[in-house]
Amino acid sequence: MRSLLFVPADSPRKFAKAMQGEADALILDLEDSIAAAHKPAARESATDFLREWRSAPRAATILVRINALDTGLADADLDAVMRARPDGIMLPKAESGADVQQLGAKLAVREAENDLPDGSTFILPIVTETARAMFGLGSYAGASRRTRALTWGAEDLSASLGSEVNRLPDGGYAPPFALARNMMLFAAAATGVDAIDTIFGNFRDSAALRAECEAARRDGFAGKMAIHPDQVAIINETFTPAQKAIDEARAVIAAFAANPDAGVVSIDGAMYDRPHLLRAERVVRRDYHLGGIGGG
Ligand code: COA
Ligand code: MG
Repeated sequence: MRSLLFVPADSPRKFAKAMQGEADALILDLEDSIAAAHKPAARESATDFLREWRSAPRAATILVRINALDTGLADADLDAVMRARPDGIMLPKAESGADVQQLGAKLAVREAENDLPDGSTFILPIVTETARAMFGLGSYAGASRRTRALTWGAEDLSASLGSEVNRLPDGGYAPPFALARNMMLFAAAATGVDAIDTIFGNFRDSAALRAECEAARRDGFAGKMAIHPDQVAIINETFTPAQKAIDEARAVIAAFAANPDAGVVSIDGAMYDRPHLLRAERVVRRDYHLGGIGGG
């Protein structure tokens, strides 16, 4: 998943617009973009959107962001939306692998109730939204086979820390937030899943979005969340591996395959050893995922 577009679950207009777009995934939001008084209605409209999505076959993934486990709202969210078979659930304010396991148990019950295959609903936790969550980052590895990717958020973390801002005047993240971003990248790699970058809020500034996407791809992120349809094309473009990078990766894999006993090979005057091979395999694997987007 390169682009994951948030769609507030109480807006039929935005859902209709998102349906026509090119996002690899939609995230129907029941959490922060929905006022408390509108949560019950948003659950019902999210369920209607999911059914509409299912009736118009689309090669993309659909998730629901439920409310956090400690809000008392998550069970009612799941009771409603699991009737309509989302591909995945986004878990906000996750603090550890145990939270993912707890959600996994709730999903297993709803899968059984709704005649869905056991384990078919994936989980995408947001893993940096509280100070305590930062200390749980090592616990996602091996916690649940449902974990599809990890992502992070800066807004709730600033609220948790009491920070005045999370970005510096030059647009980059202030140190605590850069640390959260980077640690989440390590956590995703340690878990063996994709790292998805957080949103870029200023949706009119496409140059700054592009720069942030390029920095994220360079560092190892596989995709980025969006809040506005105009952000999707830029995200898809930057996170689609360049043909040159794929060709280079295939050349490295081919060189090692042709020399199975070699620990090191040379291609066009450059040295390649095991880390290069592993990186090349990742590039090709991600390219393969692109061809296979869909279904969840
Ligand atoms: N998904 C689908 N459609 C969206 C959209 C979204 N996230 N954001 C905007 N649109 C639609 C608008 O409805 C509008 O459609 P229209 O031409 O049919 O009226 C069109 O795109 C242009 O929108 P625009 O006028 O530029 O923005 P806006 O002022 O209507 O909306 C936001 C701005 C920020 C309120 C809106 O983008 C939004 O709700 N984003 C998601 C917020 C969210 O989910 N936050 C939680 C996660 S951080
Ligand atoms: Mg939030």
